[in-house]
Amino acid sequence: MLAALGSLASALWAGLHLRTLLLGAFFFLFFVDFLKSRRPKNYPPRPPRLPFLGNFFQLDIQQPHETLQKLMNKYGNLFSVEFGHFSTVLVSGMPLIKEVLTRPDQSLLNRPLMPIRERIFKRNGLIMSSGQEWKEQRRFALTTLRNFGLGKKSLEERIQEEARYLTDAIQEEKGQPFDPHFKINNAVSNIICSVTFGERFEYDDTQFQELLKLLDKAIHLESSLWCHLYNIFPWIMKFLPGSHQTVIKYWEKLKMFVIQVIENHRRDWNPDQPRDFIDAYLMEMAKHLEQNDEKVQAEIDRVLGQTQQPSMANRDQMPYTNAVIHEVQRMGNIIPLNAPREVAFDTTLGGYDLPKGTMVMTNLTALHRDPKEWATPDTFNPEHFLENGQFKKRESFMPFSIGKRVCIGEQLARAELFIFFTSLVQKFTFRPPANEKLSLKFRTAITLSPASYRICAIPRA
Ligand SMILES: *[C@@H]1O[C@H](CO)[C@@H](O)[C@H](O)[C@H]1NC(C)=O
Repeated sequence: MLAALGSLASALWAGLHLRTLLLGAFFFLFFVDFLKSRRPKNYPPRPPRLPFLGNFFQLDIQQPHETLQKLMNKYGNLFSVEFGHFSTVLVSGMPLIKEVLTRPDQSLLNRPLMPIRERIFKRNGLIMSSGQEWKEQRRFALTTLRNFGLGKKSLEERIQEEARYLTDAIQEEKGQPFDPHFKINNAVSNIICSVTFGERFEYDDTQFQELLKLLDKAIHLESSLWCHLYNIFPWIMKFLPGSHQTVIKYWEKLKMFVIQVIENHRRDWNPDQPRDFIDAYLMEMAKHLEQNDEKVQAEIDRVLGQTQQPSMANRDQMPYTNAVIHEVQRMGNIIPLNAPREVAFDTTLGGYDLPKGTMVMTNLTALHRDPKEWATPDTFNPEHFLENGQFKKRESFMPFSIGKRVCIGEQLARAELFIFFTSLVQKFTFRPPANEKLSLKFRTAITLSPASYRICAIPRA
């Protein structure tokens, strides 16, 4: 029997010629390409595309704006082009441009993140971020820049001072031919540096000149063919050599420089006297870190003091603490798929037939991280459960499940959570050990629990 099966298999294998296999693979790839390049029916017009590459080779990458101008003449003020399967819509003309940039419903407010930028900067920062992250960064940057003199006299004075350095340096050339590029670059960079790093750099500072050159090259190389290819095929290009690797290497060096500056700031930092943007940022980070246990501890101190033991009767007076506990449960997500149910007799759900005996699982992770339900689904934020400082119940929060089979221990668990948590935070401030980072990694079992970790409990009294 086995022998017969074996010879059948080898006969089948022999029948599958290499050519057939290749042809199959070929059609499969084209089919995938077809699926990925489908667009909605009413999509802006696009020039004919090549499979896999899209309109990549129709664009002159040295002068993309000229090719695009030609396409605009042909297709009008709103058309699309494709780089690989990544589609871009090009908008021209005042009315449409104005609409894209200022539409109030925020549907056009995000930034796309090109793979090479994601590789270098992740999703962090002000310029390339979107959503809540962007809002916070922007609010912080605006206030901080205002405090450090944007729109005030002090910044104007800095510019005047730098202009004097620049004219002096150019004076030294005595009318002979010279390339002003890096002197001007240095002068302009110095303004930003004095706001962010609290210092300017001399035009003959070799380390800083080196960095300016790296930055210049990195920016220039980012428009190279290699980097465009990286943006279309990152999963292949990250293994291949090319100028995209150089760009990444240069940025690593630039980041190292900034990290060094930040470390120096950390060392001689006085929270009462922020010197520059970095100091202000360090302060903001510390504030966020401390905010929750500060705020929880402030509430505990107000309602309970240091000696009275917390009881369930206190919970209504402690909306912030209660919100923190709820938020821990939302993020903690210890039973991601809830306890399953089983269909008792043939029935329907969402328009589909479900026969008796089918197992049904409800995805609580999806609910607890649903961006439609939560303002910042992936970050810890007790405000999710607060409204005007009062505790707010949320329908889409159900760590104990709901319905007739809701967790029978819910009340017990909630009492334990409140009393244990409040007692601990009343007596201790919890901090990660020096030089250790806490993570959100978890251990999977029937429930999820934190991967093993160490923490310091610093007595408060
Ligand atoms: C549940 O939803 C989350 C978030 O949308 C998703 O990452 C996860 O894969 C889902 N789990 C299952 C089993 O579908």
